[in-house]
Amino acid sequence: MEQARGAATAVVFGEALVDDFGDLQVVGGAPFNVARNLAGFGMPPLMVTRIGDDANGARMRSEFQRFGMSEAGLQVGAGEPTGRVQVERTGDGSHRFHILPDQAYDRVQPAPMLGALAGLAEPGPGPGAPSAVYFGTLAQRTAEGRAALRALLQACKAPRYLDLNLRDGQASEATVFDSLCHADTLKVNEEELVQLFDWYAHISPGTADMDSLDVRLACAELITKFSLACIIVTLGPRGAVHYGADGEVTASGPADVPRMVDTVGAGDAFSAVYLYGSAQGWPLALTMARANAFAGGICGIAGAVPQDTAFYQPWLARWHSAA
Ligand SMILES: Nc1ncnc2c1ncn2[C@@H]1O[C@H](COP(=O)(O)OP(=O)(O)O)[C@@H](O)[C@H]1O
Ligand SMILES: [Mg+2]
Repeated sequence: MEQARGAATAVVFGEALVDDFGDLQVVGGAPFNVARNLAGFGMPPLMVTRIGDDANGARMRSEFQRFGMSEAGLQVGAGEPTGRVQVERTGDGSHRFHILPDQAYDRVQPAPMLGALAGLAEPGPGPGAPSAVYFGTLAQRTAEGRAALRALLQACKAPRYLDLNLRDGQASEATVFDSLCHADTLKVNEEELVQLFDWYAHISPGTADMDSLDVRLACAELITKFSLACIIVTLGPRGAVHYGADGEVTASGPADVPRMVDTVGAGDAFSAVYLYGSAQGWPLALTMARANAFAGGICGIAGAVPQDTAFYQPWLARWHSAA
């Protein structure tokens, strides 16, 4: 996974955490899933996050190494707990998630982050100016996290990709509002879209028909209200739809999932391909189709990223032979 000289890079801000099943720790966090997928495509991003110097922190670092990612944006806080979500197995085979408060990822410090960002722009064979900034809302649940993200967005003018990823009881509506004000591309799933319609649109249409006039009007209202370039809505087994500021609707899917294992990280896989394809200059319809297909592919493996990075090769071969 060597990065090509002068290749584009992205900046990914937010949580790196473990889903702790008690007897099993799985590395995740939506931003860290996106970052590892981008690295798998040969476009390792600057991942800005914070971990502790504990066993879970070591798990994070070994993922940075496995994916060949620079640790320039990785902050380590001595004695701080590396992000953890306690996963409770319920009797009926499903899971309950307890997102723990006050984790290392809540405390990203601006100064080292800005230093790492400045390093990207240094002259020479480095990646150069970032092609995009990815962020979500979980790492904005504290004032410290919000301040760090604001400092990043001040310093980096690349197009902003917001994957809302609302988690119950975490970021407030005010944080969502502020995030939308800073976003260019907005990615939501169906439930998140319905929530945004409820909060910010004059109409709250159902999402059974994503091409209905009411859905298109409500999306257009969000786009205008927040000066967005576009909204991408992922629809699970129904694929995904892109609403442009020009009123154009571009749908893709459903994805082909020959062998469904789990949908963990499906949205993050989608976002990673969308960011990669945008940096590569792929046409929109092709980017949507490839993001949808790859997200379907991730549904065919256990977890959000592959155990073996050889997983990425056939996708890259397909994408880069098709030109
Ligand atoms: N059950 C499924 N069958 C096929 N593809 C799926 C399924 N669930 C998710 N996907 C793929 O993953 C993408 C994102 O999934 P979705 O569940 O909408 O997002 P999120 O993970 O953000 O909630 C979808 O657009 C689709 O490409
Ligand atoms: Mg999501």
